[in-house]
Amino acid sequence: METSILGFGGSEIGYQRISARTVARLLGSALDAGLNVIDTAECYENSEQLIGKALGARRSQVHLFTKCGHGGGWSRADWRPSALLSSIERSLRRLATDHVDLIQLHSCSLAQLRKGDVIAALERARERGWVRYVGYSGDGEAARYAIQCGRFDTLQTSISIADQQALDLTLPPARERGMGVIAKRPLANVAWRYPRKPAEPYYQDYWSRLRALDYGFLKGDAAVATALRFTLSVPGVHTAIVGTTKPDRWQANAALLSAGALPAPEMERIRARWRQVSDASWEGQT
Ligand SMILES: NC(=O)c1ccc[n+]([C@@H]2O[C@H](COP(=O)([O-])OP(=O)(O)OC[C@H]3O[C@@H](n4cnc5c(N)ncnc54)[C@H](OP(=O)(O)O)[C@@H]3O)[C@@H](O)[C@H]2O)c1
Repeated sequence: METSILGFGGSEIGYQRISARTVARLLGSALDAGLNVIDTAECYENSEQLIGKALGARRSQVHLFTKCGHGGGWSRADWRPSALLSSIERSLRRLATDHVDLIQLHSCSLAQLRKGDVIAALERARERGWVRYVGYSGDGEAARYAIQCGRFDTLQTSISIADQQALDLTLPPARERGMGVIAKRPLANVAWRYPRKPAEPYYQDYWSRLRALDYGFLKGDAAVATALRFTLSVPGVHTAIVGTTKPDRWQANAALLSAGALPAPEMERIRARWRQVSDASWEGQT
């Protein structure tokens, strides 16, 4: 796969109940801007249906990624191989396509991975022509095992100025094996925009970490640009899937990247600050 460095993260359009009309505009402008990666999941509410409907005849212009493991919703994981296969079949119907380019196990545990039958289910889907590649989406020791077992083509993992565990733990072995790496939550949810601790638990860890990290650049106009360029400058990262609900973000985010990779001294300052402030509890966040 030849992927654009900027991809589209499909969780927010589902969870925030964005209209089909807005999603059509959003994806239309993203594709026009040169984006060719769309990531979604079986449990992001109606995200798959919205994407399938919006893509229509432009399906062949994108690499379509989805996930499996929570066919009945995020809180109801079901790792039985039969459930994974029926979830993948349902994703094809929802996405209005005969195959997806990548199917990912949606953050199953290390114990589940070790059993092996969840991986075999994805391989069966590949044999049936439903998916081109198989991947693991997750963090920490489970992600490390997924790399080492040698059966996955890709790793989707959290990488940002507020989430750097993967840089030491999983990216070096993933690079060695030539795996495709997808950075999820690449802007750390822009958690620094909230003056007080946000009520939404999903944002709270990054908000607290960013408070402690207190990067000077977060106070200036280039905060989003620096955060995104950091993620994309990490060796081994192929694409960063930014979540958004706003059609104008694509051109804007693509423009932020025109300056290229972050200069090495700036990268090193962000890395050094992380090493100085973080502790063992600052693990990769799901
Ligand atoms: N376990 C998993 O597999 C897993 C877990 C989490 C996430 N993911 C994937 O990763 C994707 C991205 O994660 P995410 O959406 O949580 O985090 P993210 O991409 O780090 O942050 C998304 C937030 O950034 C804002 N944003 C984007 N561009 C901006 C800009 N130029 N200026 C200011 N704000 C901007 C968006 O707000 P606006 O709507 O205002 O643009 C949105 O609230 C998800 O959609 C999903 O596909 C996977």
